[in-house]
Amino acid sequence: MAVTRVSIIGSTGSIGRSALEVIRHYPERFRVVGLAANSNIELLAEQMALFRPQCVAVADEAGGRRLSELNRGLSVLLGPAGVEEMAAHPVDLVLCAIVGAAGLRPVLRAIEAGNRIALANKEPLVMAGQLIMQRAKDRGVTVLPVDSEHNAIFQCLQGHKLSDVHCIHLTASGGPFYGRSRENLRDVTPDEAARHPRWDMGTKVSVDSATLMNKGLEVIEAMWLFGLPADKIRVIIHPQSIVHSMVEFSDGSILAHLGPTDMKFPILFALSWPERLESPMSRLDLTKVRNLSFAAPDFTEFPCLEYAVEAAKIGGTAPAILNAANETAVEAFCQRRIPFLKICEVVRAVLDRSSIRMETDLDTVLAADTESRRTAAEVIHRWDSIKYAFV
Ligand SMILES: NC(=O)c1ccc[n+]([C@@H]2O[C@H](COP(=O)([O-])OP(=O)(O)OC[C@H]3O[C@@H](n4cnc5c(N)ncnc54)[C@H](OP(=O)(O)O)[C@@H]3O)[C@@H](O)[C@H]2O)c1
Repeated sequence: MAVTRVSIIGSTGSIGRSALEVIRHYPERFRVVGLAANSNIELLAEQMALFRPQCVAVADEAGGRRLSELNRGLSVLLGPAGVEEMAAHPVDLVLCAIVGAAGLRPVLRAIEAGNRIALANKEPLVMAGQLIMQRAKDRGVTVLPVDSEHNAIFQCLQGHKLSDVHCIHLTASGGPFYGRSRENLRDVTPDEAARHPRWDMGTKVSVDSATLMNKGLEVIEAMWLFGLPADKIRVIIHPQSIVHSMVEFSDGSILAHLGPTDMKFPILFALSWPERLESPMSRLDLTKVRNLSFAAPDFTEFPCLEYAVEAAKIGGTAPAILNAANETAVEAFCQRRIPFLKICEVVRAVLDRSSIRMETDLDTVLAADTESRRTAAEVIHRWDSIKYAFV
């Protein structure tokens, strides 16, 4: 069986670590060629010792230099440009597992180099989905979804025509606060928000799950991955997270994908596609699944979902503006500068103050991202000043 040469950008994060765990089970099948991270030098050094990649990149330049000194002058690609260079290194597959907008340029560079993409990093698709999918098409590059819902939809669509799809049901666990009133969410801490009931994930995506913004970002992600309009993508609350998503066809049949709540499954699928490998992970025991429940989402208690769907329908730079405002607000919440409920207020305020453009070339998208972060910082700063005026 041929060896698949893999690079992982964001190898020290939740997805990156899970991917390396999967790869360790198949030493004959996968070869780690490149690893990139932001600043977690200690973990990256451990990963390098285990997997011996040819190519290493560190976005944080000081950290990268330290890594090089620790490894007797090893050549490390430095800074965001170094991470992009690593993404363009010729391999069979690049797993894009950076968090946030920082992944956009590396994803584009990996596509331009003709590398197959396993995409966990949803924010680049939200910001510039049209650009990414068009470039992938022009370059003949397959983009494989790693996000569990999109991976499930990808699998349900195999062998079917897109024109036969009536709609997609994107399942959502509801996050840690589903069922709680807004009044109840006033004082929740970043630790509580990051404690997801079903999935073990990085901080940003966990907070996004708590506001339901994650599901909104996933609606936009699904639009671009599967070429469907927003009104064909429906969100359904499914607290058990056993059904990872469903596709409903024109004849009324619904195909569902079921599996354990473990990201190693979609990662294994994306790594081994178009083959399937014997899984070393614990399988789903259907006899222990007592209950599968589904409910409509509550847009009033969790307005972020509604704002994301609104941005998806407007199109142009609206999703990039939404994403940048959300990233800025989530960071401020994690630094305890704003309360949990303020996250969606910041996103709303930024959407209302921004001029949306319909062009989606890279420069326009990046300018919208920068401007949105500036506006969000102003909104947060103003709130900070008002808050302290009353202390
Ligand atoms: N975790 C999940 O279960 C899950 C599920 C579905 C989708 N996703 C999506 O997958 C992506 C990654 O999520 P995660 O939970 O794995 O995030 P995470 O745990 O926060 O990890 C992020 C990774 O990206 C690296 N990174 C951050 N900024 C970077 C930069 N500028 N250049 C290079 N590397 C950078 C980090 O390096 P350092 O460690 O050095 O900071 C880390 O390796 C997100 O877009 C998320 O929405 C995640």
